[in-house]
Amino acid sequence: MNTLHDISWSDYSALPLEEKVPLLARPDGMPFHTLFAQQFGRKQLDGLCALTTKIRFIAKTREGMDFLQSQLSHKRAMIYFTQPSSRTFLSFMSACQILGLRTGEVRDASVSSEFKGESREDSIRTFSSYFDLIIMRTQEKGLAEHMAWALSRSDRPVPIINAGSGKDQHPTQALLDIYTLHRSFEKKGGLRNRTVMYVGDLARGRTVRSLSNLLTNYEGIRHIFVAPEPLQIGQDILDMLKAHGNEYVVTDDMRKYLPKADAVYMTRIQDEWDAAKGDSAKIDTSRFKIGRAEMDMMGPDAILMHPLPRRDEISTDCDSDPRSKYWRQMRNGMWIRTALIASTFDCADMIMAWRQRTM
Ligand code: CP
Repeated sequence: MNTLHDISWSDYSALPLEEKVPLLARPDGMPFHTLFAQQFGRKQLDGLCALTTKIRFIAKTREGMDFLQSQLSHKRAMIYFTQPSSRTFLSFMSACQILGLRTGEVRDASVSSEFKGESREDSIRTFSSYFDLIIMRTQEKGLAEHMAWALSRSDRPVPIINAGSGKDQHPTQALLDIYTLHRSFEKKGGLRNRTVMYVGDLARGRTVRSLSNLLTNYEGIRHIFVAPEPLQIGQDILDMLKAHGNEYVVTDDMRKYLPKADAVYMTRIQDEWDAAKGDSAKIDTSRFKIGRAEMDMMGPDAILMHPLPRRDEISTDCDSDPRSKYWRQMRNGMWIRTALIASTFDCADMIMAWRQRTM
């Protein structure tokens, strides 16, 4: 049942996030539409991490893969990306294939009827006529949310997954980041009381915004935001952390804090958002890069993450260091997106109950 159906857009959009969350949820508390990181509490995160680990295990055998592919072979997914992407697009595509969903895609609005003046709303309504799930990445903040509301009033209220919206949210990236942290620390005392350092373009990086939100679900997390002043994290995120009682530091001194970090989350400069071409190039970012010398300053159990794509903020010399987790992080994206889609379509219990046949 889609309860969004009963509320006008002006009433819905005026609600605080915590009042929107139940309107977007399935009866089991998992999101029906996945639009922002705040839809995931600790229970949902633990469940999703457990399901992801189970899926990774099942997918190791042909018998397991055949089982996974039978789960959603009666469903179709539209992957609608009007912003560039490699990892998110391909990992969602792979996740659909793992579960047997067939996919369609639009990656360039100029080859769809939007070019003829069709509104986004009509385009999405069109996709919902042919597909059972819409996964969308857009330049515009909040578009996925508006589309979820609009579809809820149609006779095809299919789920929407936000695969990155404007500068504000990238909830499924935050899920794979959490899973990477969970995997990295599960045999070393878990995620509680960890110090997470975020480095780079924090003003325009939606991944840091979504991840810092999700980390408030874990006890005792400390956050260190390292950026040149014009690219520092927004006050809204600091206010949110304060409201959750999380400690944070805002600094431009990466080297001072590197030895204290359990996880270092690097990001690239997002110059595609520059108001005038070349604005970012005027900012000195030379102190916000990691090479061998900086890795030597990190603790032996600390990990290095990056949502990717990278430029020069992590030297390729660091790739073979066992503390570098960004390639594993990327692959984790495929697994946790598989788990998210399975949960969206209510297959989680069936997958968790899977047992390999004994010969
Ligand atoms: N991390 C991430 O969103 O990568 P893509 O832009 O390649 O999808």
